[in-house]
Amino acid sequence: PSGALMKIPPSLLKQQTGRKGKDAWTSYKGRVYNVTPYLNFHPGGKAELLRAAGREGEALFMEVHPWVNWEGMLGECCVGILVGEGEGSL
Ligand code: HEM
Repeated sequence: PSGALMKIPPSLLKQQTGRKGKDAWTSYKGRVYNVTPYLNFHPGGKAELLRAAGREGEALFMEVHPWVNWEGMLGECCVGILVGEGEGSL
């Protein structure tokens, strides 16, 4: 991971849909990842990956390919940890 991690409440994650000029963020095991740099490289396509954007992505991910090493591939894209609403800080 590079730089300080943000505390990210659900309301902030929700805005990061990869649309309207926003980066695409999704979460896995309590950590939030910016998947924008990976969108064009995802073997399952950009649209599929964007289905997990702006929300918790673990369930969708595990449904499709539980064998893929998320942390190994996206570890460097971790931008923060999910916290409860109101506990966030940038
Ligand atoms: C394929 C990574 C999220 C749908 C793959 C493959 C990798 C990968 C490495 C190739 C797997 C293989 O051939 O064994 C990731 C990572 C994700 C992610 C790092 C982290 C967010 C998602 C999500 C969806 C999705 C959220 C669906 C909503 C698919 C599909 C394929 C695929 C359908 C199959 C493509 C094919 O074989 O034709 N992904 N994926 N992925 N992914 Fe993802």
